[in-house]
Amino acid sequence: MKRKRHVKKIRTSAKIFLTFLAIGICVLGIFIYDNKFKNKDNNKKEEKTNEVQEINDPKPNTKDPEPEPDPEPDKPVTKSDSKYPPLEELDGEKKVIGKSSNGYTIYTKSGVTYVDGIMIVNKSYALPSDYYPTNTHTDASNVDNVCNGCINNTAYNAFEDMQSDAAALGLNIWIQSGYRPYSAQESIYNRYVANDGQAAADTYSARPGNSEHQSGLCFDLNSISDEFGYTDEGKWVNDNAHLYGFIIRFPKGKDEYTGYKYESWHLRYVGSDLATKLYNNGNWISLEEYFGLTSEY
Ligand code: DAL
Ligand code: ZN
Repeated sequence: MKRKRHVKKIRTSAKIFLTFLAIGICVLGIFIYDNKFKNKDNNKKEEKTNEVQEINDPKPNTKDPEPEPDPEPDKPVTKSDSKYPPLEELDGEKKVIGKSSNGYTIYTKSGVTYVDGIMIVNKSYALPSDYYPTNTHTDASNVDNVCNGCINNTAYNAFEDMQSDAAALGLNIWIQSGYRPYSAQESIYNRYVANDGQAAADTYSARPGNSEHQSGLCFDLNSISDEFGYTDEGKWVNDNAHLYGFIIRFPKGKDEYTGYKYESWHLRYVGSDLATKLYNNGNWISLEEYFGLTSEY
C-alpha cells in the first residue's frame, strides 16, 4: 500500500516536471523565434537607411580627378582664327615712336607706322615715298598709275568673297580705284588743289605719302560719290563689309578724328575681328578714335 502511494507520488511529480519542461520549451521557442524576426527587421531597416544616405550623400569619388586641359598658349596679336585675319607686319626693326592718347604703343617698321599690328596711314603718319605693297594680286613693283589689282592678296580675296556674296543678292560692286603709287596721288591731289584750293582739297584728298591708297590695303567702290551711300550696294556694304575684314575708313560724322569727310565708298582691310569692333553695330568708329591717334598735318 505504502509502495503504491509512493509510485503515485513519483508519477505526479514527473507529470508536473514534464508540464513545466514543456512550458519552458514553449517559452524558449517563442523567445528565440521573436528575436530572429526582430533582427531581420532591424537589418532591413539598416539597409534602407543606408540607401537613403547614399542618395543624399553619394560616396566620395575615390578615382583620381581628370587632369585639367593645358591652358591655351598666348596667341600673338597678329594671328586670328578668322577667315579674314589681320595682316602680317613688314619685316624690319621695330622702333617705338610714342604712345597714343589711350595708351597704345605707336611704332614703325621700315618707315611704316603700326599700332597693335595695324598699319596706320593718315595725315599724321605717312608712308615713305618709295613704298609699294608686296604680296599683291597684281604685281605693284613697276606700276606708276592707279592699279586696281595691286591689292594685298588677303584683302583682294576677301573683296572677291564680298563681291560674289553681293552678286548673289543682285548687287553689283567693283573696285573703281585701288592702289595708287605716290606719283599718282601727287597728280590727283595737285589737281584738286588747283580746282578747290588746298584747304578744301585737304578735307577729301590726301597729300602724296599720306594716302592709304599707296598701301595696297584699300580701294574705292563703284561711283566714288556721295550717292553710293544711298544705293542698295552702298547700304549693303555699310552693313556687311566688316564680315569680310573691311572698315568704312572715313565714317559719317567722324571728320574731326579722321581728318576727312565721310566716304561711303572707301574700304580699308584690317581683318574681321577689328572691323567688327569698329562696325560697332552700325555706328562705325574710326581707326583714329579706336586707337587714340591724331590725323592732322
Ligand atoms: N580720299 C582719301 C582721303 C585719299 O585721298 O586717300
Ligand atoms: Zn579712297
